Amino acid sequence: MLNSLTVTILAEDSVGYETPFLGQHGVSFLLEARSGELVRRVLVDVAQLPQPLLHNMAILDIDPTTIDAIVLTHCHYDHTQGLTEIVRAVGNRDLPVIAHPDIFRPNFETVPTLRHIGVMNSDTREAITAAGGMFFPVRDPLQLLPGLTTSGEVPRTTAYENRETNLKTIRDGRVEVDPMIDELSVYATVQGVGTVVVTGCSHAGVVNIARHARTVAGTQDSGGTGDGTRPAEGNTALAGSAQVAAIIGGFHLIEADAERIRKTVADLHTEGVGHIYAGHCTGFPAQAALYSTFGDAFTPLRTGQQFTFSQ
Ligand SMILES: [Fe+2]
Ligand SMILES: [Fe+2]
Repeated sequence: MLNSLTVTILAEDSVGYETPFLGQHGVSFLLEARSGELVRRVLVDVAQLPQPLLHNMAILDIDPTTIDAIVLTHCHYDHTQGLTEIVRAVGNRDLPVIAHPDIFRPNFETVPTLRHIGVMNSDTREAITAAGGMFFPVRDPLQLLPGLTTSGEVPRTTAYENRETNLKTIRDGRVEVDPMIDELSVYATVQGVGTVVVTGCSHAGVVNIARHARTVAGTQDSGGTGDGTRPAEGNTALAGSAQVAAIIGGFHLIEADAERIRKTVADLHTEGVGHIYAGHCTGFPAQAALYSTFGDAFTPLRTGQQFTFSQ
């Protein structure tokens, strides 16, 4: 487990009142994870414009060369564009860049017109590698250090989430609905706090992501199979009781109907999620619904915020 976790919002769609930060459509989070003497800084997504990201880092006195790894939550340009430039700014040879193996597939909309919204041509695998990135293409949870892991593919268990049909891909020359199977989250388990979930857009469904966190975080911390599918022998209690202390990110409810919003908020509440930090693609109606249920345990995301979780 971690002793502490600090999450800094480096990019978000909104900025706070009287702050000097630059906002943009997209998200980027810096995670600083401490485990004993060990400190690791993991950048989760890079939004779509490197300049405001680097501007915000400078204001917060964050040196990009101290970043140890980058996790990409999914292919969309508002999470991945400019990655090559950020990898170059980090400047570390063989910088781990962790993402789903399908992240470079075509991903596009056709309404109102054909538009690619996946990884852009300036950020191909070859460009990232040439800039110093070491690509980790992974479907399974990948432990970054004990207590900090990526989610791997998120099982779709709720009946009402993951119903998007406007996102398309091409497979074997056929145009298909893209199930966004590349969606990853990051799960950080902090001693005395529980598991903090960091999510990009929650295309897999934020309730699915929260439920998967309980399984994966328990498995990883207990030194389980490492495949994220089952906990180690004798540690089922730990896996089952892993408390979701917080969820931070975009909940992708901006186009959801009132019924889906109602079910999502109710299920997050039933799951016992301790605090919700939601912005980006969450949308105002969902933010309002989350606030009316979670009250002070709801915080709207703003660029430049920092949250620390420790005992
Ligand atoms: Fe997004
Ligand atoms: Fe997205």
